[in-house]
Amino acid sequence: MKNLIAANWKLNPTSKNKAEDIFERIKKGVKDTTAEVVVCPPFVFLPLLKGLALGAQNIFYEEKGAFTGEISPAMLKDLGVEYVIIGHSERRKYFGETDETVNKKIIKALTAGLKIIFCIGETAEERDVGKKNEILQRQIQQGLKDIVDIENISVAYEPVWAIGTGNNCSVEETKESIDFIRKFVKQDTRILYGGSVKSENSGAYIKEARANGLLVGGASLNAEEFANIVKSAE
Ligand code: PGA
Repeated sequence: MKNLIAANWKLNPTSKNKAEDIFERIKKGVKDTTAEVVVCPPFVFLPLLKGLALGAQNIFYEEKGAFTGEISPAMLKDLGVEYVIIGHSERRKYFGETDETVNKKIIKALTAGLKIIFCIGETAEERDVGKKNEILQRQIQQGLKDIVDIENISVAYEPVWAIGTGNNCSVEETKESIDFIRKFVKQDTRILYGGSVKSENSGAYIKEARANGLLVGGASLNAEEFANIVKSAE
């Protein structure tokens, strides 16, 4: 199984020219890699970018109809999009996403034939009061409720306090969490790490913490840095 390195561009960049430029430079930088690379730009750039696997950052759980402003799994599939990130902590925090909506989205996206990057992770407060494992278990079990075939799901462990802060989770703690998460998925389910990944720390998550890939935010907007992260995860 190849390691999966996903670029989560979030709400960046602000123009299509910049998006195309970063994408083309990433493409060059990763062309000989043995890892699996997926770029997840904002929806509007998805039809413009060609030559690497693409992922969306969110999805709605209905196929069509009167849901102003939403994008469906069928639409993404039709565009040739392969992956979708579901349950990112920013969506849980700013857009009211819950374990229930995450579960509905995963079910519909799987049915449409998309592969899922399912994000879970505890906040600093939850970790401080010793509730980390309880939160991770709840998010996994409720997010994957009634889903039997999890072959197309990768789980991304992203401690909320490590995202965008420069305060990446230690390799030891990441390994412990990955081992814990492993109890609730299959032996061959890919478990990724995300949270302030850069090329200086990326290799250790793969080699020492035994992550099967990485979800990279800020550093994925720098094509050369992202290519180095991909290289470290081969
Ligand atoms: P970061 O974001 O690499 O900027 O911390 C990771 C993520 O939110 O997926």
